[in-house]
Amino acid sequence: MNEKKVVGEKAVEFIKDGMVVGLGTGSTVYYTIIKLGQLVKEGLLIQGIPTSVQTEELAKKVGIPLVHFKEIEQIDVAIDGADEVDTHLNLIKGGGGALLREKIIAKAAKTFIVVATPSKMVETLGAFRLPVEVVPFGAELTEKHIRELGCDPYLRQLEGTPYKTDNGNYIIDCVFSEISEAKRLEEKLNMLPGVVENGLFVGMSDIVISLDQNKDVMLI
Ligand code: 5RP
Repeated sequence: MNEKKVVGEKAVEFIKDGMVVGLGTGSTVYYTIIKLGQLVKEGLLIQGIPTSVQTEELAKKVGIPLVHFKEIEQIDVAIDGADEVDTHLNLIKGGGGALLREKIIAKAAKTFIVVATPSKMVETLGAFRLPVEVVPFGAELTEKHIRELGCDPYLRQLEGTPYKTDNGNYIIDCVFSEISEAKRLEEKLNMLPGVVENGLFVGMSDIVISLDQNKDVMLI
């Protein structure tokens, strides 16, 4: 069973004609986007807003019409994956480096749907390294300030050079082990000069689509 495909495709059931749909980034929402492309070919009338260049290219390839923020009043539904989902439906996101655009779109959506295989479901956030997007200027200093919040921070690398996001920034991946006060940490991180955004999505998820112990689709 391809768990990512099952949960990813389930999300399209929430999409109706006329909707503006935020399109997330990653290997789970990939299946949502492919399925939406099929439905568009069959006549579904939607407009998509992508959360990354990668997703923009995929959406164009499968024929989903895209729209710009200035052309719309609101985003009806955003669908995205997650790296961790806790029991309060708080998330760690940004494993794929798209957390800033993902958060902007999730925040703007009337309904934010998360597609997550059971391996993403955790009691408490923090086993996954928390991605923090920082501006390149003074990144070493920003990293020191992040460390003072009680983690081990690592500048994300790609082929021996700092990984760059679609926004031209760096990602610092932070090992916290356990994040007990996600909201406070989200706020503290974002108050540091140099931090653009972090991958904690607290109180943002409306619906999480996953699988239960019998591998049946479960809506939380
Ligand atoms: C990208 C993300 C992804 O949604 C997250 O990494 C999950 O990806 P995948 O579905 O491939 O496991 O936050 O920035």
